[in-house]
Amino acid sequence: MSRKYGIGVVGATGAVGREFLSVMEERGFPVGELRLWASSRSKGRQLEFNDEKHSVDVLSEDALSGLDFVLISASGAISREVAPKVASAGAIAIDDSSAFRYDDDVPLVVPEVNAEDLASHEGIVAIPNCSTTPIVQALAPLHDEIPLCRLIADTYQSVSGAGGLAMDELGIQTQAMGRGESVPVNTDVFPHQIASNLIPSIDDPRDDGYSKEEWKVSAETRKIMHLPDLAVSATCVRVPVFRAHAAAVHAEFETPFSVERARSILEGTAGVCVVDDLAGEQYPMPSTAAGNDTTWVGRIRADMSHPNGIVFWVVSDNLRKGAATNSIQIVESMIDQGLR
Ligand SMILES: NC(=O)c1ccc[n+]([C@@H]2O[C@H](COP(=O)([O-])OP(=O)(O)OC[C@H]3O[C@@H](n4cnc5c(N)ncnc54)[C@H](OP(=O)(O)O)[C@@H]3O)[C@@H](O)[C@H]2O)c1
Repeated sequence: MSRKYGIGVVGATGAVGREFLSVMEERGFPVGELRLWASSRSKGRQLEFNDEKHSVDVLSEDALSGLDFVLISASGAISREVAPKVASAGAIAIDDSSAFRYDDDVPLVVPEVNAEDLASHEGIVAIPNCSTTPIVQALAPLHDEIPLCRLIADTYQSVSGAGGLAMDELGIQTQAMGRGESVPVNTDVFPHQIASNLIPSIDDPRDDGYSKEEWKVSAETRKIMHLPDLAVSATCVRVPVFRAHAAAVHAEFETPFSVERARSILEGTAGVCVVDDLAGEQYPMPSTAAGNDTTWVGRIRADMSHPNGIVFWVVSDNLRKGAATNSIQIVESMIDQGLR
């Protein structure tokens, strides 16, 4: 990449927004101009990128012109308003929210799985929910070997998946517990105490008894893997962990899958690292994944309840591969494919 690219970041001060800057810096992404936006609360705040300070501003429509990519990570409502304007201004919006993920004309992409879908973009590309990304990353190469027909995924999602304020909420409650005080149940973000607790509800409730997060895992897995009829059921649980989401995945294939073959496929999958020695107490955990871009897989075994089933455990950093890194990889893939 000899050319430099104009990059805008909407939500630059947020948990994901700050990670965009770190990831671009670490990867040496060729940023020409960098424009950072957040709410009026952050106007004038300085963020560092490549040892230079950049001022955060409030987004105005004319500020979008002349950019190549705009990374949006603020809220669904802001994405719905801003992404079409980005596309009209001639740039490509890489959107981190669920606003466009299910639209037929918006590619939903994990580059290791379906980079070819980027070619059909019309100015907006969506990235999946941070719990879906590692699941499809591990399932796609297995599905290439033997068709996948059913998925049961139970997720264990860290608080950073709900943003910076959610991390503060866990921090305050955990510190109070550590001092032996009663836990302040400040429910600004979560509806219940999150420290030393599990909350089996993420995002809005649905009429069918699932949460919207659980529905997202199902709809997004089907779209990314091009399996519109895949049977999927998910249970999504918020856990008192700061960073990295985990999932217990039960996958059923059309014919029996040897565990050895599944392990060897996953060991050869780009972006995936297998750590799998139960007797030696070696398996991936949130502490394994926090701060890095790897999708970690372990506990690979035959499903004792189904002859065609494989069970595994997958962990990845929701702010990195689950959000910022995936977005930057999409940008890099679009450049590599000549789409920009
Ligand atoms: N966290 C994850 O793991 C993850 C993963 C995938 C997708 N996502 C999605 O990414 C988005 C942001 O998540 P986050 O975790 O980074 O949240 P966050 O930490 O709460 O950050 C929100 C960001 O949005 C900005 N913002 C708020 N109101 C705004 C406005 N009116 N105009 C412009 N910017 C505004 C905030 O600016 P101020 O600092 O000025 O308030 C902040 O920069 C959400 O759509 C979320 O669903 C998150």
